[in-house]
Amino acid sequence: MEAVRRIGNNIILSIELLLNNGFPSRLNPFYHLGSLTFFFFWIVLVSGIYVFIFFETSVAGAYPSVEYMTHDQWWLAGIMRSLHRYASDAAVISIFLHMLREFFRDHHRGVRWFSWITGVPTLWLVVILGITGYWLVWDQLAQYVALATAEMVDWIPMIPSVMVFNFLDNQITDRFFTLMAFLHLLGLPVALVFLLWTHVSRISQIDFNPPRPLATGAFLTLLVLSLVKPAVSHAPVQAGHSPMVLNLDWFYLNIYPLVDVMGPGWAWGISTGVTALLLMLPWMPAKKEQPAAEVNLEHCNGCGQCAKDCPYGSISMRRRTDGKKSEFEPTVNPTLCTACGICSGSCVSSNPFRMANATLKTGIEMPWFTVDALRQEVKSKLGALSGAGRVMVFGCEHGMDVTTLQDPGVAVVSLPCSGMLPPSMLDYVLKNGAEGVLVTGCRDGDCYHRFGNTWTEQRLSGEREPELFKRVDRARVVEFRVSDSSGERQALRQRLEAFRRSLSPSA
Ligand code: HEM
Repeated sequence: MEAVRRIGNNIILSIELLLNNGFPSRLNPFYHLGSLTFFFFWIVLVSGIYVFIFFETSVAGAYPSVEYMTHDQWWLAGIMRSLHRYASDAAVISIFLHMLREFFRDHHRGVRWFSWITGVPTLWLVVILGITGYWLVWDQLAQYVALATAEMVDWIPMIPSVMVFNFLDNQITDRFFTLMAFLHLLGLPVALVFLLWTHVSRISQIDFNPPRPLATGAFLTLLVLSLVKPAVSHAPVQAGHSPMVLNLDWFYLNIYPLVDVMGPGWAWGISTGVTALLLMLPWMPAKKEQPAAEVNLEHCNGCGQCAKDCPYGSISMRRRTDGKKSEFEPTVNPTLCTACGICSGSCVSSNPFRMANATLKTGIEMPWFTVDALRQEVKSKLGALSGAGRVMVFGCEHGMDVTTLQDPGVAVVSLPCSGMLPPSMLDYVLKNGAEGVLVTGCRDGDCYHRFGNTWTEQRLSGEREPELFKRVDRARVVEFRVSDSSGERQALRQRLEAFRRSLSPSA
């Protein structure tokens, strides 16, 4: 499974690189698939409310009311109907891509298993929502869906096999129809909202809205599609007649051809098997997490920056327990901590100029990679630097493998995330033998730990605490982020060489 994931990861990185050539990276749709799905749901909700105004919730009234919208009030209700359908289809596409991406980019294992596992039932809910929606039109497609669904339900042992006969005889009642309408309009959407709230509950600072240009582009695309190819119904239901030609919505109704060809048992078997496989993926293989961050209260001033910066909401502030001056202290929930180290980069005490002749302690840090260990590594690598244009490179283990850049004039340190780097370390490096510092990490917009890139950028530009000291010469600091793909490795090498030459023409 790991081999499949790695291949998929390379494919996703290549597609994203391609898109980055067409969009600015902040607008790359692949970086906003979760929030794009929310946006599509908004369109579905608003258009659904409008369509509901004209919809008749009865077996006899449903079809004519939908036809009225499409043909009589095509200029608004018809467009709304089309938007409702196409935004639902777009949501399925974005959910599917979101799921693939989270898997390929390895965001589904370890501490992040929870978001994955709660994502899986949303697939079922969304598909059932779509199916009940098609049912409500009560045309020949709805009849086909009703019959095939009944076949599937009747297949389940313990359930009396009567449903299919009801639909064959066209005996659907208004009560049953109202139940479907209730499920589609209220029951399933409420369940979906609850599930999605659970889905994102362990991630902090989520942007639920895609960037405005992306949202506008997505909306206009759906609108144009609605005008060019309005959603239409099939012919009305005819008792005792099976429809000969159907235009299936493959995004929602793909299970039914399977029922036709292989029978309901196989359809159940395949969908249950796929679900079981998805549910097992976070443990195929399980991820070995490093120990969680630890707080050293004697070195913590209670500023709360670590809690603000943690991308997983694993740090919260509580009343101080050691009687020191500040009101609050951080506490780490180890079940949410991915050990990315961003908190130790955000701690003002992670200053390598402190405790010069003793073990450096800081307010919060990784027990397996302390700030003192980082300072020692930096110190020994600086000692080995020689020649002109000496540069220290700080990389991230999820971006390019920086160890390949090492040479006598280039020292490298790889971090679990570039966000672990305290800005004062740059000053330290420049004062202790390097002429320049290059900070790299995952590709822009694609940080493995969500905010490592953003926080680093903001700390270095002075927009976020702890800031890079004003005295640091900015011309000696470069940020250049790439993923570990061949073209980008080359780009980073070239950037590094150009930087070294700018520091010392003889480099
Ligand atoms: C209705 C469908 C869904 C919506 C609206 C949705 C939305 C979101 C959003 C907004 C995030 C936060 C992204 C961020 O800010 O970093 C997220 C995270 C995540 N989603 Fe979904 N999601 C959906 C379905 C799924 C499905 C089907 C799966 C997989 C089975 C999934 C797996 C994940 C994972 C693993 C994360 C965590 C990513 C991380 O920790 O960086 N989601 N989702």
